[in-house]
Amino acid sequence: MTSSELRERFAASLMPNYGVPPVALTLGRGCEVYDADGRQYLDLIAGIAVSSLGHGHPALVKAVAHQAATLAHTSNLFVHEREVELAERLTGLLGGDAKVYFANSGTEANEAALKLVKRAAGPGRHYFVAADNGFHGRSAGSLALTGKEAIREPFGPFGMDVRFVPHGDLAALTEAVDENCVAVFVEPTQGEAGVVPAPEGYLAGVRALCDETGAAFVLDEIQSGIGRTGRWFAHQEEGVRPDVLTLAKGLGGGLPIGACVGFGRFADAFGKGDHGSTFGGNPIACAAALAVIDTIESEGLLAHTAVMGDLLAEQIEGIDHPLLAGQRGSGLWRALELTGPHSAHVQEQAAVRGFLVNAVTPSAIRLAPPLVITPEQIGVFIEALPTVLDAAEAAATKENQS
Ligand SMILES: Cc1ncc(COP(=O)(O)O)c(C=O)c1O
Repeated sequence: MTSSELRERFAASLMPNYGVPPVALTLGRGCEVYDADGRQYLDLIAGIAVSSLGHGHPALVKAVAHQAATLAHTSNLFVHEREVELAERLTGLLGGDAKVYFANSGTEANEAALKLVKRAAGPGRHYFVAADNGFHGRSAGSLALTGKEAIREPFGPFGMDVRFVPHGDLAALTEAVDENCVAVFVEPTQGEAGVVPAPEGYLAGVRALCDETGAAFVLDEIQSGIGRTGRWFAHQEEGVRPDVLTLAKGLGGGLPIGACVGFGRFADAFGKGDHGSTFGGNPIACAAALAVIDTIESEGLLAHTAVMGDLLAEQIEGIDHPLLAGQRGSGLWRALELTGPHSAHVQEQAAVRGFLVNAVTPSAIRLAPPLVITPEQIGVFIEALPTVLDAAEAAATKENQS
């Protein structure tokens, strides 16, 4: 089956909500993936910041295979060891005084957070605050909190009072949050907006404001968590703790899992029967997540991510090209800032030369490679980048002329 045949079958049988993705993948090994025509690519996006151990990591393969052969599914009617172990591991990494609810995805983790903070809120609290351009998922509650009008508005109204403020603007947030606010939903760095960090001190400011007003501080670390920034969690950079933390993506290393962690009084805010999921906390997904956490620890991947991230940033900064304005982000979570709306061309020309990157916004290319990427692999990409940018520039010029 060739890539074009697969893409045709995709177009004929799957809904058009993703369009037809340009590359059809069949195999992954480490940081390399192969398409249906046998072409090799360096994977610099890792399934949108998910495949943190790369592809086919032996620890993940072993954990998943063993768990599938032992006990693949229990539902929430029964306790199993992996979910307990994983909850203990996560709360250990977070400093204790917390409890976990497991979901299957990021949007579900945020749906759980939404219900949790509603359950915990005192009477009279009726509105939420979230950030312009923020992204929390596509299911109704998470979408209502998503600050991208173009993807939210066609599906509203959602029956929720959500007030949006500019990302990272503490003065605007202070203006918006009072004693009637249920919760503030924040990302430490907005991934889907193009890896846009909040200013230093922002999370500490959100913490102080929530303490003052009694609104819950929900931190969405679905994209930033589990090592992506070179720390287990991005919020550890500022030494603040939210009331509720959501995780997914890199947690399962490629297996679907999400988590909603409640701290302090939020740990026990759900009553029996308040929330649930048939698959949430599935043994295979939990075994995968445990393998991810163990491997990040045993292979020293937090420090490696910080060092590789700095190397990547430094090498991008060293490139002088009319299409490249700079870079932003932290750890192995970066955006190439382009000087114009050329990201689609850059993504396409990168793929032609064997690199998978993501045109996250019209003028930004997101890089979120596996955390196991080597300096040599970064070097190969950096060496090719000027040629990729040249080709993208030529394609943009041609497009403008036609
Ligand atoms: C910050 C953030 N929250 C939530 C989500 C939704 O996660 P999922 O696609 O697993 O539902 C994403 C996905 O990109 C995200 O980046």
